[in-house]
Amino acid sequence: MSVVVLGSANVDVVIELDRIPRPGETVITERSARGRGGKGNNQAVASARAGASTTMIASVGDDDSGDFLIDGMRDAGVHTSLVRRVPDETSGTAYVMLDTEAENAIVVVAGANAEMTELREAEQRAIADADVLLMQLEIPMATVVAAARLARTHGTFVVLNAAPYAELPDELVDALDLLIVNEHEAALAAGSSGPAEQLGAKINERVNAVLITLGAAGSMLCRSGEEPVNVTALKVNTVDTTAAGDAFVGVYAAAKVAGHHERKCIELASAAAALAVQREGAVASIPSLPEILAAAERYPTG
Ligand code: RIB
Repeated sequence: MSVVVLGSANVDVVIELDRIPRPGETVITERSARGRGGKGNNQAVASARAGASTTMIASVGDDDSGDFLIDGMRDAGVHTSLVRRVPDETSGTAYVMLDTEAENAIVVVAGANAEMTELREAEQRAIADADVLLMQLEIPMATVVAAARLARTHGTFVVLNAAPYAELPDELVDALDLLIVNEHEAALAAGSSGPAEQLGAKINERVNAVLITLGAAGSMLCRSGEEPVNVTALKVNTVDTTAAGDAFVGVYAAAKVAGHHERKCIELASAAAALAVQREGAVASIPSLPEILAAAERYPTG
């Protein structure tokens, strides 16, 4: 049972600040660190650490940063044979500003991620053979659409984490089995604001199933014609929310291929997110399976 992640890999430059600067403002800090990130990479690591056989399809530069990113994937147990090295291009870089309230603001310089403009034969085969295809929106939309349609034809379960949010073309939406968004993205997808259940119902007019993450308020799965499934968040002390959503999504995919029922998949994903927010960094914050299982014991299904 396998997960294929098609998406980005970034070197994260984390800049710690007392507060995130406003437009026109310059601020100075002495606290900065380099780490591994990118929504695709974070989700692949989360899936692999949660026990799923996970293959990453991504593009990195033929540079030290590319080595750094691939080494991190391998350490986590992610299969990297389909990670491309792009000559004369730098790896994606994300500048993550993190304030003392654990809020962040991120700018991504796409670099090699933008070169992911078509799917090669081996990549197409991996997608067709996978049980779950997991994607985000940090690589070109046309490639995401092509992969979703291909996966759909071969019976691969297609999950899209629509982050960062972009308008979703009909041909993509039609190929999705599950959309995962946070509350902000859900409002954009719904074209309105309101409580999660209302946003979910609106999104269900286009996508049969949407899982909305609500931070400290937990998460809600909305399926057309069914009662929403609500899972609370574990109460923890948050130090950095970077990649917590990615931990949620990657662990959800791993739990799905492991054959857990829906509520259990969401509880394991929520437990992973609760662990991730207690640690700094992106890949560095993603928990292992024993940690996730121990944290998830706090849920009713244990
Ligand atoms: O979701 C967190 C990620 O967003 C960071 O690791 C950064 O690379 C950006 O892609």
